[in-house]
Amino acid sequence: APPAIIAPSILSADFGNLGHECSRTISQGADWLHVDIMDGHFVPNLTFGPPVVVKIRSHVAKPTEAYGKGTFDCHMMIAEPKKWVKEFKNAGCDLYCFHYEAATSSAAESPEAISELKTSPRELIRYIHDNGMLAGIAIKPGTSVDVLWEILESPDAKDRPDMVLVMTVEPGFGGQKFMASCLPKVEALRTRYPDLNIEVDGGLGPGTIDQAADAGANVIVAGSAVFGAKDPAEVIALLREAVDK
Ligand code: DX5
Ligand code: ZN
Repeated sequence: APPAIIAPSILSADFGNLGHECSRTISQGADWLHVDIMDGHFVPNLTFGPPVVVKIRSHVAKPTEAYGKGTFDCHMMIAEPKKWVKEFKNAGCDLYCFHYEAATSSAAESPEAISELKTSPRELIRYIHDNGMLAGIAIKPGTSVDVLWEILESPDAKDRPDMVLVMTVEPGFGGQKFMASCLPKVEALRTRYPDLNIEVDGGLGPGTIDQAADAGANVIVAGSAVFGAKDPAEVIALLREAVDK
């Protein structure tokens, strides 16, 4: 597997001091910042949008290379992922990770206005790349990994994702219990793609990292485990060691 990338989720940070929380986490050893964008529609919770991302971006140095330190990993839990690509690029997003379920018509019933903005995952990946960002595709616990094979095998690299996010909780809230039942999806991806960045998100911490690392995950999101820790630097180091061991 590729080297560990530790991406604390700022969903568990102190929102009253968000800029400082972001720069502090990076100085404590985080590689990326995982930025959870929720629209109250795709998931039953609301977080923040581009104006907040712009402000926190200025507290963290831009990565000097693709996947580098300071990468803003935006996890788009929104019903209209295509609509927000340009705005998030302009706000300073480096990696735009949309949900497969939101990009396809197989998602739950939705108003016409929304279905018009749905687009095939391949087309959306290309659009994200054309806008100068890395592209990620996320699947919820109930979505089969089998939907991804065709996308990962796209003949043109522009249509292939740079990262797959396997959710290990139902998206929407921090602090939920890790679902080990999602790990076979990580194993299946790692077996076929030794070099792929595979991210796991939800319930990760010192007690669950070994299972996730053994399955083959290398990009580790952790919200409550990092921001709730007495010594966040120690937790970040522990997560990294578990992946790189
Ligand atoms: C949940 C979010 C996660 C969340 C993880 O919908 O996607 O990124 O912040 O929080 P923990 O690590 O506390 O489960
Ligand atoms: Zn997330």
